[in-house]
Amino acid sequence: MLVCTLLVAPLKGVALASFEKTIVSVSGEVTLSLSLKDERFTYAVTYRNELLIRPSQLGMVWQSQDSLLSFSFEGIELSSKNEQWQPVWGQYSNIRNQYNECLVHLKALNSGRLLDLRFRVYDDGVGFRYEIPEKIPSVVIMSEETHFRFAENFDCWWIWADYNTLEKLYQQSPVKQASQVAAPFTLRSKNGNYLSIYEAAIGDYSTMTLKQEASDSLQFRTQLVPWADGSLVKTSAPFTTPWRVIQLSATAGGLIESSLILNFNEASVIADASWIQPMTYIGIWWEMHLGLSSWGMAGGRHGATTANAKRYIDFAAAHGIQGVLFEGWNTGWEQWGTPDAFDFVSPYPDFAIKEIVEYARSKNVEIIGHHETGGDILSYEKNLDSAFSFYQKLGIRIVKTGYAGPVNPPTEWHHGQYMVRHYNKVMTTAAKYHIMLDVHEPVIPSGLSRTYPNLMSFEGVRGMEWNAWSEGNPPTHSCTLPFTRGLAGPMDYTPGIFDINEDHFASKRIKWNWLDKGNTAVHSTLSNQLALMVILYSPLQMAADLIENYTDHPAFKLVEKLPATWDETRVLAAEIGQYVVIARRKGSSWFIAGITNEQPRQFEVPLSFLDQTHTYTFLTCMDAADAHYETNPEAYLITNETHTAKDSLILSLAAGGGVLIIVEEKN
Ligand code: NOJ
Ligand code: CA
Repeated sequence: MLVCTLLVAPLKGVALASFEKTIVSVSGEVTLSLSLKDERFTYAVTYRNELLIRPSQLGMVWQSQDSLLSFSFEGIELSSKNEQWQPVWGQYSNIRNQYNECLVHLKALNSGRLLDLRFRVYDDGVGFRYEIPEKIPSVVIMSEETHFRFAENFDCWWIWADYNTLEKLYQQSPVKQASQVAAPFTLRSKNGNYLSIYEAAIGDYSTMTLKQEASDSLQFRTQLVPWADGSLVKTSAPFTTPWRVIQLSATAGGLIESSLILNFNEASVIADASWIQPMTYIGIWWEMHLGLSSWGMAGGRHGATTANAKRYIDFAAAHGIQGVLFEGWNTGWEQWGTPDAFDFVSPYPDFAIKEIVEYARSKNVEIIGHHETGGDILSYEKNLDSAFSFYQKLGIRIVKTGYAGPVNPPTEWHHGQYMVRHYNKVMTTAAKYHIMLDVHEPVIPSGLSRTYPNLMSFEGVRGMEWNAWSEGNPPTHSCTLPFTRGLAGPMDYTPGIFDINEDHFASKRIKWNWLDKGNTAVHSTLSNQLALMVILYSPLQMAADLIENYTDHPAFKLVEKLPATWDETRVLAAEIGQYVVIARRKGSSWFIAGITNEQPRQFEVPLSFLDQTHTYTFLTCMDAADAHYETNPEAYLITNETHTAKDSLILSLAAGGGVLIIVEEKN
């Protein structure tokens, strides 16, 4: 249902030197204050009566000193919207999109250029974008002057804005100590309110980082990732920028529950989405990261052989896992790093792709194909159509892509506009071939999956693979991700490792990565690994361990029951970097998952969210009393209980521990 424009253009056509306007969200909790004074345009944000962002300047500078920084006010249009929409997959089956909007018309004083600023105020945040309405054949943006002046020295969680990768551990510090940060940038105010700054709907633009104006300053500014020639964005007008989004919540858990980023994206362009299907998957993957086999054939340790592929397909079919990923199926791994190493259509001779596809089809299992580009965009774009058409003809409907390596053409950054264009081209080409995508080494997800729901999952996170060949990810990391990187969209973190100490096949491992100091392990308990499959949302959710480690393992019974899309999501307890307890519903079943950082913790969970009229079975896998992520990580207990909505659960989590509970209606 759509309720639209309330009030239009009372002032359009009246140029003024100053102007002030306040827009309040429907609940009254979010206030956006707009002002034009002394030729400068600013916005400020107040949440629950706490000033979070002081008046902060907006504008941009184009090539040839064409600046849009000093303005006259030309008019304003107010409107509002209240609708519901249904995503193809996600944290909810139904999403409300309700906001008050203000479109401000400005004119740049020096050039006479027109600039529109569109603001939307939600109960869970604020977003705005620049719109250039006139026709201009070429625009080169040299700086975007979107400022964020934090009201006080808030706590924040951040990673350094490396223009090539998001695979980093977060640090917590006062905001004055953050220098240049990647988005999402999450902060906690003096009053304990939370805010996170990121962007939505990145079309033909560069991605945004935030740069501190001077050391010790509370003021940050957008720093777009540049082209090799130093310019930031090359475009033509009319154009709109991505949305700059400030998400707000009174609780840490509220950040996770929000659908704000999706609401800032356009509706799906894929009319019939019946071919798009969320799923859990396994794959020939972890064995290469552990050094048990290799991607290439040279050396005689090839992982993706026909026999191994069939074993994985058999296991998936027997255990209700819908997809199987095969990496290292195609020639080129021996030429990694040289131009045109991969052609994406030539299987290794020991990988009988047609036979494997037929076998998978006979067992009703989907194959997830793989395109590792090594960053060679020039080559991949040449091969894009043939690569997707090859898979489509075979009946392979999901492709994982990868960009591990420096971008070719050289000197372009992974996160610059060149690559944004590339990723969006892959997204639209895949849609044309009815192929779902799982993008590794991506740009930050920005909610484009709403418009192209075949864009399923993304890495762009320091994921599980780091536990196979580096000092690994500490328990705090997975307790931080849902409130930081996770706010930008799904994460293909690839959880679900059961052999926590990685010692089941230790004698067969060969070191292949220089970060491997011989002490690799997963830094969590086994129950924590199960919980991550529910907590870290991905519509393609991997159970990443070797099937040898799942065979006859009682805890795998819980994995078999996991969906990869939800009807409802509630965060029951959460603090950034410390713990998360979440309940997600699919149909009449609930999936409760909890994790903690290095601290053991107990939670009391009232079950009042369950239907009062039913009795439920609870299948639980949780840490044993003596479990510990370092000394006894695989000690777990599986229990079966019966409860009603009147009961409460006591969840005891070990250091680095977790719990997963599957709650089903009792017949
Ligand atoms: C990095 C990806 O994140 C990983 O999943 C993949 O196995 C390797 N690149 C090889 O493509
Ligand atoms: Ca990676």
